[in-house]
Amino acid sequence: MAAKKNVIVVGGGLAGLSCSIKLAEEGVHVDLFSMVPVKRSHSVCAQGGINACNDIARQQGYSEWMHFDETCVGGDFLADQPPVREMCYWAPKIIDLLDRMGVPFNRTPEGQRDLRLFGGSLFKRTFFAGATTGQQLLYALDEQTRRWEAEDKVTKYEFWEFLWPVLHEGRCVGIVAQDMRTMQIRAFRADAVVMATGGNGLVFGKSTMSVICTGGAVARCYQAGAKYGNPEMMQVHPTAIPGEDKCRLISESARGEGGRIWVPRKQGDTRPPNTIPEEERWYFLEEKYPKYGNLVPRDIATRELFLTCQQGYGVGGGNMVYLDLRDKVKEIGRERVLAKLEGILEIYEKFVGTDPLKEPMKIFPAVHYTMGGLWAGFAKDEKSGGLKAGDPANMMTNIPGLYAMGECAVTYHGANRLGANSLLSCIFDGLFGGSCIKNYTTDANRTAAADVPQASYDAIVKQEQDRQDWLVKNNGTENPYLLWQEMGEMMTLNCTVVRFNDKLEQTIDACQQWKERYKKVKLSDTLMWTNQNLSFARALRDMILSAEAILQSALHRNESRGAHYKPEFPTRDDANFLKTTIAEYDPIGNCAVISYAPVDTSLLPPRARDYSGKTVAKPAVEPAKV
Ligand code: FUM
Repeated sequence: MAAKKNVIVVGGGLAGLSCSIKLAEEGVHVDLFSMVPVKRSHSVCAQGGINACNDIARQQGYSEWMHFDETCVGGDFLADQPPVREMCYWAPKIIDLLDRMGVPFNRTPEGQRDLRLFGGSLFKRTFFAGATTGQQLLYALDEQTRRWEAEDKVTKYEFWEFLWPVLHEGRCVGIVAQDMRTMQIRAFRADAVVMATGGNGLVFGKSTMSVICTGGAVARCYQAGAKYGNPEMMQVHPTAIPGEDKCRLISESARGEGGRIWVPRKQGDTRPPNTIPEEERWYFLEEKYPKYGNLVPRDIATRELFLTCQQGYGVGGGNMVYLDLRDKVKEIGRERVLAKLEGILEIYEKFVGTDPLKEPMKIFPAVHYTMGGLWAGFAKDEKSGGLKAGDPANMMTNIPGLYAMGECAVTYHGANRLGANSLLSCIFDGLFGGSCIKNYTTDANRTAAADVPQASYDAIVKQEQDRQDWLVKNNGTENPYLLWQEMGEMMTLNCTVVRFNDKLEQTIDACQQWKERYKKVKLSDTLMWTNQNLSFARALRDMILSAEAILQSALHRNESRGAHYKPEFPTRDDANFLKTTIAEYDPIGNCAVISYAPVDTSLLPPRARDYSGKTVAKPAVEPAKV
């Protein structure tokens, strides 16, 4: 009898949980690894909502095709279109499924699921659960995962850190991981491995991401031979609370529900905001983008905020603008605003200390989302233009048996992700990809993981044990946290909203020094019990290598596209750069090697991306089916 199939899922956020649920439904056993209790995965921080076209949106004239069109345009045409199409057409089914699972979506007085406006769309097509949508979705999926756990179809390994993929004859056949309590390092066999480990915001020091989001897991796959796609594409969210420790998101939904961005018209104005009269406020997004106003896509809003502050219009002449909900309170009353936004308003009051419905919030852009990630393939269905259901090629990296889902994959968002498409892409990946992975595991033409020689696993355990021993014993002078802080500050300064080639080159030079300095890193805790210092210092090496891939990719892309903006090359250059950046790790040079892959734009020809309302955008009409 054939051995029972087993898949390892790394990451307990929305992508990891939905994939685990789907695989369990398909009869495949799942070992689910997470550095934190799955209910603390970074998905829990998602606030604003999840996009889909349902019947109510359709009555406004919206369609799945328009969702697809907005996503491609939002990403400045850098995403392969077949996976985007499939995701957008699946979206309504996903919302229905989540509703059946018990997600407490906000409702209209008539009992319909409510919708809100979100960036990059003129239509209300974002479902939400107050301003804690990610948390509600994560908890619902966690409950479903627990059902499968109770039936022994899913085994959870919480507080385990992924260290390295195990490859045999070029295929991924398991992982090596570490118990973060006992610090035991051990290997696990699997017929396929799914990476669903989120973004790498910590490469930039402070971000809206959770403090576990080092991108270490992706960087380890990259060092093991996986391709890293579009590393340069990082999203900087326009509205966050800057903090000493980290930045905290203030959701786009605040603007979707009527929040307005402004600065005093007079540079350096230090008057308290409540004393500045309407005519002395500059609503610069509304003025420059009359059609989309405060809801232009994030890359555009962020650049405008950033440049406005650079020109000296920021609050008190500094790096801050106002986000104002007082008009909305006047219009519908405090209670109704709270019903939709309480989650984020509480965060603001807790960390800043003022009531955001009485005084405008002070916010500034912060690194928020990683559009780049492990390169993942797809199998196009020529008839629909979407994906072939169940094809094992979907979501598989260039390493057979190694899959990538959610934020850690490059797939859907191109050069800029539209708000509220992230939760969708995670859940779509898991549900659609689960069947594809199951089919990969049942292919009889390859050695089952159970029959792979033990030596393949032992070699990686030894590699990781040696790396750890070196770190623990190293008696250098570098504090890993200070080195990280320095790197984060320089990455944020030179490789976020505005990029100049000379600054990128300087940062690449600095990167060579960070690599050298890393050799002198010294741990402050060398004991083998819950050693977070060790885990962080190990990830620092990965973050430096990720930083180099990001910088090299940004340097090579001499154009402006989505979140990647170079004043020296201010326009999009499709002739030279309508292509996916591929970074591959060169173990001999210990550096990134950059090449390119074509982008599949077979469904929607690239067009100029214009949200100013000055040109008349053609309505997105789905081509007639043949
Ligand atoms: O602004 C937000 O609520 C974030 C949503 C997202 O990143 O999709």
